[in-house]
Amino acid sequence: MAKKPWEGRFSEPTDEMVEAFSSSIHVDRRLYAQDIAGSVAHARTLNKAGVLSDEELKSLEAALSRVKKEIEEGNKFTWDPALEDIHMHVEERLRGMVGDLAGKLHTGRSRNDQVATDFRLYLKQEAGEVIRLLRRVRGALLDLAAAHMDCIMPGYTHLQRAQPVLAAHHFLAYYEMFFRDTRRFAQCLDRMDEMPLGSAALAGTTFALDREYTARELGFSRVCRNSMDAVADRDFCLEFASAASIAMIHLSRLCEEIVLWSSQEFGFLTLPDAFATGSSIMPQKKNPDVAELVRGKTGRVLGAMTALFTLLKSLPLAYNRDLQEDKEPMFDCADTVKACLAVMARMLPHLAMDRERCADAARKGFLDATDLADYLAAKGLPFRDAHHVAGRAVALAQEKGVELTGLSLAELQGLSDLVEKDVFGFLSLEAMVNRRATLGGTATGRVKEALAQARAELAAEGEGRA
Ligand code: ARG
Repeated sequence: MAKKPWEGRFSEPTDEMVEAFSSSIHVDRRLYAQDIAGSVAHARTLNKAGVLSDEELKSLEAALSRVKKEIEEGNKFTWDPALEDIHMHVEERLRGMVGDLAGKLHTGRSRNDQVATDFRLYLKQEAGEVIRLLRRVRGALLDLAAAHMDCIMPGYTHLQRAQPVLAAHHFLAYYEMFFRDTRRFAQCLDRMDEMPLGSAALAGTTFALDREYTARELGFSRVCRNSMDAVADRDFCLEFASAASIAMIHLSRLCEEIVLWSSQEFGFLTLPDAFATGSSIMPQKKNPDVAELVRGKTGRVLGAMTALFTLLKSLPLAYNRDLQEDKEPMFDCADTVKACLAVMARMLPHLAMDRERCADAARKGFLDATDLADYLAAKGLPFRDAHHVAGRAVALAQEKGVELTGLSLAELQGLSDLVEKDVFGFLSLEAMVNRRATLGGTATGRVKEALAQARAELAAEGEGRA
């Protein structure tokens, strides 16, 4: 059985069920690279503080890099549940290499500030990765918008056909969501960019550690300002999981539309074969599994977020072992949101709307009723009255089994003498779309502007940060 670092005070060994129950190595071994980076920075800080000689630092650095190599090579390293977590595994292996010097590395440090540092390093990297993936999704949406500037489809409210819109406008609506997500992750990344080491167990340490130096060594922008908060804080997990949940909600809405649009009922798009699956029993089936799975995985990410919030609720200061339970949901949350963004970035470029079906749907169901009312209102009829006349036109058309433009001029004039023959051109799909030229509207000119602005913004981010 491995020796425990705390055994000086204990008279009997840990119960084996307790050992298995409290071990986290099967989960936190993923943090080995961050743990070793943290140890190298700490060793350098100890050297600066006069705790480790230059010689000692050199041999610790060399040994730490050998431990890293052994772990990466896989078969050389032994994982032992009795050693609890990644911090003790690294330290124990170090002891095998450099003997008692390994013990000196833990001067002025606790696993509490160690794990807080490891986890922030890990999540900073993940936030950066999520931001890169969000940019790919946004780029794909911009390409889709550019390819669908000429595609007019029904815009919906209450999932009832409402008014015609450009499919490009619809895609750009999703761009906006993922733009906000990018900003949210960038802000979350900025706030988590603080270094806990030097806080030790909770109160700071008696050794003169230059924390600003450690922070620079590890690529952190700042140090955590309060040692108790530094070891107890997991806000960065809550923020990441919240941002991830919102991004997943956005993905789930997009996926829901892909599922609907690819159904026979809508028929607005055909899924690329490479991103659909068939049925083992129904030969005609082509199922939108990717969109369905992303929609389904949203629940997982929200579950992880809920687990993390619940973990932190009412937890007294400072470190509590409960916090060890942050890893599994956090890893799953980051892995899932990354996988979903990556697969969507890959699938989106292959989507193509069926322009005929879309336009056909936009022509049916009186999506021009608002425009007929606007037409009359523009001629001086108060909008409330114009709305009433247009409503009667819809009722008449329904009775005759035609659309509004299927009514004759005489029939329309029977409802209002303000109607002239220009009404038919006024109610064409293109005219209806292009009249909605308010800032942020669906008019082709506005959508082109929005697309150009989004392209410029995405390109600028590529150079800097969101
Ligand atoms: N495995 C622990 C965790 O993930 C590391 C810190 C343990 N600290 C302690 N005092 N037991 O939170």
